[in-house]
Amino acid sequence: MLKYRTINCSVLNLKEDEKLTKLLEFDNENIFYKNAEFAGEILRNGGLVAIPTETVYGLGANAFDREAVKNIFKAKGRPNDNPLIVHVADVGMVENIVDEIPPKAKVLMDAFWPGPLSIIMKKRDVIPSEVSAGLSTVAVRMPEHKVALEIIKASGVCVAAPSANTSGRPSPTEAKHVLADLGDKIDAIADGGRCRVGIESTVIDMTQEIPAILRPGGITANMIREVIGEIKAPEIRLKDDDTPKCPGMKYEHYSPEAEVYVIECSKNIRKTAVEEVVNIYGKGKIGILDCSVFNTDTFCHEYIDCGDTSQKYACELFAALREFDIRKCDTVFALIYFDDQLSDSVRNRLYKAAGNKIIKTDEEK
Ligand code: TXA
Ligand code: MG
Repeated sequence: MLKYRTINCSVLNLKEDEKLTKLLEFDNENIFYKNAEFAGEILRNGGLVAIPTETVYGLGANAFDREAVKNIFKAKGRPNDNPLIVHVADVGMVENIVDEIPPKAKVLMDAFWPGPLSIIMKKRDVIPSEVSAGLSTVAVRMPEHKVALEIIKASGVCVAAPSANTSGRPSPTEAKHVLADLGDKIDAIADGGRCRVGIESTVIDMTQEIPAILRPGGITANMIREVIGEIKAPEIRLKDDDTPKCPGMKYEHYSPEAEVYVIECSKNIRKTAVEEVVNIYGKGKIGILDCSVFNTDTFCHEYIDCGDTSQKYACELFAALREFDIRKCDTVFALIYFDDQLSDSVRNRLYKAAGNKIIKTDEEK
């Protein structure tokens, strides 16, 4: 079993032989509150706990504890110029860490919290510069997951948490993904099962005159416009006259070991069209990530279907990318045809995983 990093064990009353990374279960009533208390205590005492949220698992530390926060960066191998999201269990906690809550930010909290929306506001000095990476702002979010909320409450502090993956790897959507990446580097993993949304929260900057979405996620631009009016949102999809960016522009993010290519297609894409692309770009063991178009694995070595809606696809994507690595695929072709706004958030992750290697098929939509 994995070695437990020593934190303030006298407080936790742990004996030497109990210093192992703890996998805490939350699926039965009797241990739910006890384990939340335990996780909260580790956080309060400067330890690192992976926490399930509705988006992805987060690697939590006490947001007011500089040393604990530094350990997050160490464990993940994260560049320290990338700020962290601070997680709260209620709106009252936000008032202590930001200068003021802008009226439109309050409207967003009322509409979407708890939920997959991180709101950037001006920070107070209680939030150390390690959390904000030197910025004067802080991103705050209330997750919609009873395990996360109970652990934050039990800790009695705000919890800084980036996704609980090794930097550059796909974000973790199951406890086993965290164990694989960080198992020997953190104190405990709270197992809350599979994450419901599957991609990280939408990040919106409310300090600008016109609020701006910095990262698309589960709460879409149109959902936000409906409650606060004008916002800026990034263009994600290739326009019809854009040259497909293929291959090149390697941007290490969400990257599995395999080379990933995105195939932008229609629901009616023919198998021969995919086979043609595989023949040109495929090397070694071939994986196909489908969106319920083919339902057959006859034309590749490994086949994973991520479902016929962008919700299902978002939920399965990161786990599928990890699974292709476990199955030792060399090249993965990910098909996508969805057209709704959530699919743009999915594309944002997929394009990064593919280092922007995007192939557009010319078939009729
Ligand atoms: O769903 C999520 O957001 C998950 C769960 C655990 O809550 N967390 C997450 O954290 O995805 P992370 O660190 O992987 O991504 C946070 C993103 C980064 O792109 C970071 O640059 C941005 O939010 N961010 C955080 N604070 C910021 C700030 N003050 N200004 C601008 N961007 C910020
Ligand atoms: Mg991340």
